[in-house]
Amino acid sequence: MRKKVLGVLVSGRGSNLQAIVDAINSDRIVAKIGVVISDNPEANALRRVAGLDIPTAVVERKKYASKQEFEAAIIAQLDLHHVELVLLAGFMRILSPQFINRFPARVMNIHPALLPAFPGLDAQEQALRYGVKVSGATVHFVDEGMDSGPIILQEAVPVEDDDTVATLSERILHLEHRLYVRAVRLYCEERILMEGRTVKILPPRQNPREEGERH
Ligand code: GRF
Repeated sequence: MRKKVLGVLVSGRGSNLQAIVDAINSDRIVAKIGVVISDNPEANALRRVAGLDIPTAVVERKKYASKQEFEAAIIAQLDLHHVELVLLAGFMRILSPQFINRFPARVMNIHPALLPAFPGLDAQEQALRYGVKVSGATVHFVDEGMDSGPIILQEAVPVEDDDTVATLSERILHLEHRLYVRAVRLYCEERILMEGRTVKILPPRQNPREEGERH
């Protein structure tokens, strides 16, 4: 199967970006990162890919008169690098419906809670405040709402009595890295099927040669 081209949008630390890069380098994901785009020139995520053969672009909101022009600049970069799947990996801006419609079911996000619980910012803190006994991570396609798009994968972690925001976030972050890699891998293997807002995961494709060899 031809390698899919990924575009990763980041704003900060970049640990999910790192997980994707590592998975590609170890052949757990067959894809290529076409471009990493940051709205923050200081993002640590940019440092993670410096020196690798991955193009980067900084697109700062303040350099554009409107959100529309800012997003047009991001889209121009994604198009320039022939990106097929857009990954939000700690990208701290809300994308407009115009942007989302430009990439239907082709923008993924990872959220540090079991959606639809605790959408938006500080999901781990919201979970602790509420007093839930399990939380987790969700990979979903992005739609026009806030963390409301079709869910691709979810997994839970326990919330312990002595958890702080830091300890719970750390536990969820480990899970995020695994879950995001799995979701991107499923996309690249063309195993994600959308039925309305329900996402179904198809079984692994048989290699036709292997099938032939079975007879
Ligand atoms: C992660 O917790 C992710 O779920 C949320 O933002 C954080 C980004 O972390 N959307 P990193 O930049 O990938 O380390």
